[in-house]
Amino acid sequence: AMVGKGNYRHFMEKEIHEQPAVIGDTLKSYIDPATRTVTLPDLGVDLGRIPRVSIVACGTSLYAGQVARDWFEQVARLPAVAEIASEFRYREPVLDPGAMALFISQSGETIDTLAALRWAKTQNQRIVSVINARESAMERESDGVLHTLAGPEIGVASTKAFTTQLAVLACLVIGTGRARGTLSPAREAELTSALIEVPARAAEVLEMDAALRAMAEEVAEARDVLYLGRGTAWTIAMEGALKLKEISYIHAEGYPAGEMKHGPIALIDEQVPVVVIAPAGPLFEKTASNVQEVHARGGRVILMSDKAGCERLAPLCAHTLALPSVHPFVAPILYAIPAQLLAYHVAVLKGTDVDQPRNLAKSVTVE
Ligand code: G6P
Repeated sequence: AMVGKGNYRHFMEKEIHEQPAVIGDTLKSYIDPATRTVTLPDLGVDLGRIPRVSIVACGTSLYAGQVARDWFEQVARLPAVAEIASEFRYREPVLDPGAMALFISQSGETIDTLAALRWAKTQNQRIVSVINARESAMERESDGVLHTLAGPEIGVASTKAFTTQLAVLACLVIGTGRARGTLSPAREAELTSALIEVPARAAEVLEMDAALRAMAEEVAEARDVLYLGRGTAWTIAMEGALKLKEISYIHAEGYPAGEMKHGPIALIDEQVPVVVIAPAGPLFEKTASNVQEVHARGGRVILMSDKAGCERLAPLCAHTLALPSVHPFVAPILYAIPAQLLAYHVAVLKGTDVDQPRNLAKSVTVE
């Protein structure tokens, strides 16, 4: 079927706004809201038995994998690494026979990811894939598949595929924790409840569009933009920077906030906006001290936090965006959305081809 833009200017804008619905659809296929438990299809692998997981992907899908890496270790206590698909084979990683290799792809056709999948098979890995498209090469060659229910994604820069990947991965992590006996029923209920709330909170974030448009005016003037965060918010910082590069052509870097003092701090002056992703949680205070360091060097901080975080740090910031409060586990899903909208509005201000940015392809089928 032909997909149209509806009342939106670009597919990317439409796809950003579809997120509450498609995240909800995706969660519904794995979570029973009555029992607050996760049910996974048969993946051809015993999740209670695998010694570790290697997560392999490219681009935005890799960032979904990087969030999942942290979740696997924190929630399921399963050793996990996230691997860049085009590097994975050539690095000659040491893989335990019977371990899980987890591939993440919107298209299911990205050649680097597919080649990594084929190589992982030769290393006796159990192959599980998280895919949005139907009937792809990766799907055919996997032992088990989890689908994201994002629907067709037309904009080259991935948005709804990413947040639905995170939704599926969160469910996979919870299912793995239960199978391993590392996640109690009470904790499973706590985490699934947090997930079930995401669509409603995401809809609230979309209503902050005007504030993000105002922030975009400042970012659109910049030559370089730094994005900072810690833990899963560091990964969202990298995803935000990638979105900005892809569609606005402004140079941007996502960096772990605590590592800033070992390099990027030298870049900071009044010309460089610093977008700080600082959800409430155990790492908030540490990130707050990095905001202080940026401010002390004349940097212009654009803060994304919750209400309490924004009130605390407002004196140190050029702009604050107070997002709804959510459980720290699901914060990366929610905080991805303002990062997408910021990049989108900057690109619109710059007049770039938002849905078809120069030099990029939706699905890269050459190595
Ligand atoms: C291209 C797209 C990105 C996407 C990446 C991986 O670079 O422009 O948006 O994240 O490929 O694609 P995949 O289909 O494997 O998720």
